[in-house]
Amino acid sequence: MGVERTLPNRKENKALHPSPEETNSISKPRKCRRRHRKMSPVQKLYETCKVVFSLCGAGVVPSSEDIQKLCSVLDAMRPVNVGLTPEMPYFRLTTARRSPPITYLHLFECDKFSMGIFCLPPSGVIPLHNHPGMTVFSKLLFGTMHIKSYDWVDAPEKTSTIENQQPATENPIPSEVNAVLPPATRLAKVKVDADYTAPCNTSILYPTDGGNLHCFTALTACAVLDVLGPPYSDPDGRHCQYYLDFPFSQFTVDGVSIPEEEKEGYAWLQEIEKPDELAVVGELYRGPKIQEK
Ligand SMILES: [Fe+2]
Repeated sequence: MGVERTLPNRKENKALHPSPEETNSISKPRKCRRRHRKMSPVQKLYETCKVVFSLCGAGVVPSSEDIQKLCSVLDAMRPVNVGLTPEMPYFRLTTARRSPPITYLHLFECDKFSMGIFCLPPSGVIPLHNHPGMTVFSKLLFGTMHIKSYDWVDAPEKTSTIENQQPATENPIPSEVNAVLPPATRLAKVKVDADYTAPCNTSILYPTDGGNLHCFTALTACAVLDVLGPPYSDPDGRHCQYYLDFPFSQFTVDGVSIPEEEKEGYAWLQEIEKPDELAVVGELYRGPKIQEK
């Protein structure tokens, strides 16, 4: 999802995270210093992403082997690995607003992938939004979050895969709609509608499957580590778009019918402007340093 352009740049980040050589410049070297330090989890994540997304682009999904590799790294991530605790100010409810501000900690971005953490106070909402052409890995680091996600019934774009490992998209419903529907409204199928409590496994969205459109609602303070491949890019046409969801029964559309018992599993999604109440503020990531390679 989009973040206001208040993200700290990496030069600032480096200035506030001096290297070990700089911070230890007046201490004497230890005689028995270990030659090989263990790689930090966040460094391992960065290096795994470099490999996993090296051949990827819009609409291209990593191989199932690479997806497993990245999931196992993310599954092992804990808040302490990125310098977070639930007691930090980002997670405090400091306003009576219906939708409290959300903090985004930028870890890394290149043209292949991005990594960042959304910090949500209790009742924080990341409204329904899409991830065009992207594969998205989300790891809930702590807290309880309600996730609702959808896939389009008529996939808008073709997806090429490095390895054809996605299940076929069901399309039981004609895609034509009539004028009864509001403009920019399309049919979507519910993929996930459930509460998640950390520690839980990483969830994955694919370009046309897995719940490519999702909404997060924090039931307690939450931190979510997101990896996007490729990242949003306005010049490349990968915009973050926002949606409102309406129950299937709200509109009558000729030629579109769903058995009564399955109607709960579908919704009409209308594209909207970025909601006014959404406030995402970029803050400097102060966790363990990532050594870019
Ligand atoms: Fe998202």
